[in-house]
Amino acid sequence: MDNATLTLGNEVLELPMVVGSEGEKAVDIRKLRAGTGTITLDSGYGNTGSCESAITFIDGEKGILRHRGYSIEDLTANSTFTEVAYLLIYGELPSEEELATFEERLTHHSLLHEDMKKFFEGYPANAPPMSVLSTIVASLSAFYDESTQEDELELNVIRLIAKIKTIAAFAYKKSIGQPYIYPRNDLDYSSDFLHMMFAVPSEEYEVDPLVSKTLNRLMILHADHEQNCSTSTVRMVGSSGANLFGSISAGISALSGPLHGGANSAVIKMLNMIAEDGGNVDKYVELAKDKSSDFRLMGFGHRVYKNFDPRARVIKSSADAVLDQLGIDDPLLDIAKKLERVALEDEYFAARRLYPNVDFYSGILYRAMGIPTNMFTVMFALGRLPGWIAQWLEMKNDPGTRIYRPRQVYVGENGRSYVPIAERGVVSAG
Ligand code: SDX
Repeated sequence: MDNATLTLGNEVLELPMVVGSEGEKAVDIRKLRAGTGTITLDSGYGNTGSCESAITFIDGEKGILRHRGYSIEDLTANSTFTEVAYLLIYGELPSEEELATFEERLTHHSLLHEDMKKFFEGYPANAPPMSVLSTIVASLSAFYDESTQEDELELNVIRLIAKIKTIAAFAYKKSIGQPYIYPRNDLDYSSDFLHMMFAVPSEEYEVDPLVSKTLNRLMILHADHEQNCSTSTVRMVGSSGANLFGSISAGISALSGPLHGGANSAVIKMLNMIAEDGGNVDKYVELAKDKSSDFRLMGFGHRVYKNFDPRARVIKSSADAVLDQLGIDDPLLDIAKKLERVALEDEYFAARRLYPNVDFYSGILYRAMGIPTNMFTVMFALGRLPGWIAQWLEMKNDPGTRIYRPRQVYVGENGRSYVPIAERGVVSAG
């Protein structure tokens, strides 16, 4: 493809083009500053590519999401979360034997070091689960050597995926004052998590296969999403040479924000508020359009999708069936559907191409499974972990990776000399 031509004053600069395997085009500006002393400015990086990646492809205009070339619809219909985790990390769907070995290793690394239980004891019951998750994931590097030797790092990948569900379940049990339930080697990944969350020592707890299957599909839907805020954070932290556990811990913190992974619990709080206000959907759609209010329709809009988020479509399509099979009639689902209908018929949302995203319906299903609202974003993190790991490894193994260090445009004071305090006079505050 021809170079891009940039004219700066009387300078004309030729910039090479990069074209991806799906035809996406990028102007390669890596030599721009050296050649012209000029940088680009793109707050929020909405127009800036941070890397070349072979893991996930999104076409936001067409609502396409693929992992290593496989569509999200195909994977949610036919695969399992552990198989998708393998695909994201190792690049290919596993053979039967490879998957069995991978799952067996995850099963046998799901225990936490007994000393780690002391960390949970220090938290108050109302500690935010995402803060607990981020802190305890970071502390794994105190127990497992972060040498960059390939085999040690590969084992730490297994340890992290295996242990994060135990950490999440222990954080929940601690918050409700119940004893920890240990991992069981006879249960698959999502069933074991549900068992650790809801079993109690005094009685048998049977995991509902439908709930386990639903959780499995939700985790597949959250598994990766190219260079979103938390994944970019994981890459940025890892680019300094920081260890895997610390990089993932930073990603968990980034995900916790209400504009990102925190949106799923914010959606339920919003739907409850509308329900308590007589289900007056029109009022809240108008409020979301009113620039003087800071109210937004949580679970609506996306930086990349300017069409339906394919994950929201999958979740919505299964919500009715799952609730019916569980015998649950959740009024919030009806309010969510009405809110979606009213919003999508409204010019404000249509003009800005705002559609429901992955967080809009996911909370309805988490509720149906008995997951408490303050654990919804933890569920997002459990699903996203393999994607974060795959992206971190791709960054680490790319010989072209440099430490992430963006530039800036300085808009502060120009050079000035120090004034002794006795000579300063009264300066207006702020
Ligand atoms: C996730 O990046 C990813 O891939 C993330 C994610 C993943 O898998 O990792 O998909 C997961 O984070 C999904 C998004 C979850 N967040 C929410 O649902 C929070 C509500 N949504 C928004 O705050 C917003 O839509 C964002 C944060 C998702 C996107 O923000 P952008 O791209 O910066 O868009 P913007 O804020 O510049 O909005 C553009 C316009 C603005 O209006 P104008 O200034 O043009 O008049 O759309 C408006 C916004 O006010 N707008 C909304 C809105 N979202 C955008 N107005 C009302 N309600 C909303 N939800």
